[in-house]
Amino acid sequence: MKKIGILTSGGDCSGMNATIRSAVRTGLRMNIEMVGFRKGYLGLMKGDGITLDSKSVSGILHRGGTFLQSARSQEFRTPEGQQKALDNLRNLGVEGLVILGGDGSLTGALALHRLGFPVIGIPASIDNDIPFTDMALGVDTALNNIIYAVDCIKDTASSHARAFVIEVMGRNSGYLASVSAIATGAEFALVPEREFDLSEICQQLRARYEEGRDNAIIILAEGAGNAQHIADSIKDAIGFETRVTVLGHYQRGGAPTVFDRLLASRLGKKAVELLISGQQGLMVGLSCNAIIATPLEDVIKGEKRPQDEMLRLAEVLGI
Ligand code: F6P
Repeated sequence: MKKIGILTSGGDCSGMNATIRSAVRTGLRMNIEMVGFRKGYLGLMKGDGITLDSKSVSGILHRGGTFLQSARSQEFRTPEGQQKALDNLRNLGVEGLVILGGDGSLTGALALHRLGFPVIGIPASIDNDIPFTDMALGVDTALNNIIYAVDCIKDTASSHARAFVIEVMGRNSGYLASVSAIATGAEFALVPEREFDLSEICQQLRARYEEGRDNAIIILAEGAGNAQHIADSIKDAIGFETRVTVLGHYQRGGAPTVFDRLLASRLGKKAVELLISGQQGLMVGLSCNAIIATPLEDVIKGEKRPQDEMLRLAEVLGI
């Protein structure tokens, strides 16, 4: 193998730059030419590749986001889009591809693999819902962002005797909500994986209020309900003053934590090594602190990473 490409796709996350840096440095050490495609699969379909030398990836380890930029592409889901990408890869002499992203992006990686192109996927999504990896890239940084924000909000919540509904990301995944609730000592974590009874929550808040606890933090995963509706219901039911904070895309940015920098460096290196050794159609991931590789076929048809343990822990801790 002489030339390897890399791209970042779907929702960005902290640690993508550190992964690109690691992959590029690993490839260059083994005399492989490295090419970055801009804006994920869009860049692949346009043949928008840039040569990545050692200098082009210096000074990016500590930066959030992705300097290659990212995008979600409908066109790449079509056979025509995939063929365009394949033609460009072949014309550019790229013989293998490292693809960073969440489940949609890894599904794209699997499509290329099925068409016979060597790919290795890297799980990168703050939702942490990708099977066959304990942690996806960016999750730890996102959690630290959330925890910093919730700690700040707790200060003002207690000063004003208010309940806050804090919405975190997670359309279909309650990982960020449940783990941040555990780590901040929130009163409730509301997640898409588990139904909740709003009147029951109001009752519990009222009981707490009568015991003298006059502030509360409810962490809501965006896919679990409407933050304003929940806040209004609490206010109407118990007269508790409520506020809503939507953390939004703040969660996805910022300097990666040590955990994410290390994970990025390990996954980037492993992905390139696998391609060079002739392996393909795999996703690299973290399992019991070891870097493992799992067929993309299994990753995509696998059950979404179960959140049971965190949800049970939250329950035991009274969240
Ligand atoms: O897939 C990660 C994620 O952060 C989800 O939790 C969230 O719903 C979504 O991306 C937001 O995507 P966008 O950046 O396109 O608004």
